[in-house]
Amino acid sequence: MNIQGMNVLVTGGASGMGRHFVLALAGAGANVAFCDILADGVTATTADGQGLPGKVVGFVANVADEAQVIELIGKTVAALGGLNGLINNAGIFRDGLLVKQDKESGEIKKMSLKNWQQVIDVDLTGPFLLTREFAAHVIQSKTPASVVINISSIARHGNPGQTNYSAAKAGLIADTKLWAIELARYGIRTAAIAPGFIDTPILQGMRPEVLEGMLKPVPLRRVGKPEEIFSAVKFIIDCDYFTGRCVDVDGGLTV
Ligand SMILES: NC(=O)c1ccc[n+]([C@@H]2O[C@H](COP(=O)([O-])OP(=O)(O)OC[C@H]3O[C@@H](n4cnc5c(N)ncnc54)[C@H](O)[C@@H]3O)[C@@H](O)[C@H]2O)c1
Repeated sequence: MNIQGMNVLVTGGASGMGRHFVLALAGAGANVAFCDILADGVTATTADGQGLPGKVVGFVANVADEAQVIELIGKTVAALGGLNGLINNAGIFRDGLLVKQDKESGEIKKMSLKNWQQVIDVDLTGPFLLTREFAAHVIQSKTPASVVINISSIARHGNPGQTNYSAAKAGLIADTKLWAIELARYGIRTAAIAPGFIDTPILQGMRPEVLEGMLKPVPLRRVGKPEEIFSAVKFIIDCDYFTGRCVDVDGGLTV
């Protein structure tokens, strides 16, 4: 597929990688709709996207809300005149150990059901709803070729302190593979990208010594840049023989 002229929906476009994808796709001539729960961020990314070769349209929508997702797909198709690309990028984390015993009091602290559920809702249910509605549109509109890109994480291998996040990001890889099989007959390819540590607002708030410790096991000894993840996005869009697989972009880090 050619980025130029594509109609793409990006989730979580107010910040970090999502924001970069929106502007880079529109810079390359795609028409882009995006959503986020942060209204100010939606306004800011939309403003930054004006004047690029492709159109940029922002919507406030929560990917974990079924009615909002259905409405978002409808609004996107109306605004862009079609839809043949989806990047499931919106994500959150609520880290903590499954259980942790306080050395002095013996008290056991548990990961709350709320923190489990919030991450599953946004990071796994969100892509499920978006991909389902995207696929339904593609089939109904007889769109000949399309692609879904799921942003997973290196944490999918099972990262201590991330019971909820690892489960969601691993589930997303399993769904990427099975959606490739289920949806190929409709001309839909599905692929995933698993970033390592990437320079976005998530990392920018970290203390330098914490970040330095995190980078020790990374062979390239640095964080990645959003544009390096966008290189993988471009490859997936460009390569029509790529589906059902995950591209690891993590500086060689092993979890
Ligand atoms: N930054 C990293 O090191 C890293 C590494 C691996 C994977 N990832 C994944 O990459 C993706 C982007 O991460 P980022 O670092 O750019 O994060 P970020 O926090 O900068 O951006 C995520 C965006 O998603 C939005 N969002 C959150 N919940 C939402 C919801 N319910 N509906 C709609 N939008 C919502 C946020 O408001 C935010 O604008 C996430 O899925 C994240 O898990 C990030």
